[in-house]
Amino acid sequence: MLHLTINGKPVEVPEGSTIMEAAEAAGVKVPSLCHMKNVHQYGSCRICVVEVEGMKNLQASCMVKAREGMQVKTHSPKVLAARKVLYELLLSNHPKDCLSCNRNQSCELQELGYELGVTESRFEGAMSKAKVDISPSITRDTSKCILCRRCVTACAQIQKVGALQAQNRGFDTVISPAMGLPLNSTACAMCGQCTVVCPTGALQETDGLTPVWKALADPGKRVIVQVAPAVR
Ligand code: FES
Repeated sequence: MLHLTINGKPVEVPEGSTIMEAAEAAGVKVPSLCHMKNVHQYGSCRICVVEVEGMKNLQASCMVKAREGMQVKTHSPKVLAARKVLYELLLSNHPKDCLSCNRNQSCELQELGYELGVTESRFEGAMSKAKVDISPSITRDTSKCILCRRCVTACAQIQKVGALQAQNRGFDTVISPAMGLPLNSTACAMCGQCTVVCPTGALQETDGLTPVWKALADPGKRVIVQVAPAVR
């Protein structure tokens, strides 16, 4: 067993535990957007950063293993300031349409903003190109994706389908079927598990979205809409 402190509280965890797991054992919830316990450890959002005594840089608690004697601070002023900047950077490339988004009030990204006290981003810059792909069961809006890749894991490793993968590189990275095909042209089983794990409105059930199809298809808008033919 390993012995460390989380915000001054001693805690004992099995060897191999991450700092996030140690925090959980101490009753401290570290915010996260990409992590899925025992399923998806990818470390892309960095929202879970914590301060470790003796380490210069903040550490992603979901990825870094706990070590004997570690002294960890999960909500120090330095951590909170960094978390807010990381959140603002995510928000700077996210549509500001929460009020018209179907995920309003059930969105992890939005919820985290409330928790951090951040509702606006100080940063402005290029925005990812938006593409809306509407299959009979799943609607994808790439402009709302934060590239956490939870959906990729759910689709490939849990459902064994693999319809969604990361395409392209850098700022052009997009989670999509290969060659930008619409979901309805792939092996997608329409199970909807990707919509369950998505922390934003990037993947939603098509059911209930019908009234907005027309609005999305408005040629005056910046989105490209692919409406899949109905299943017979
Ligand atoms: Fe740790 Fe996203 S939860 S990097």
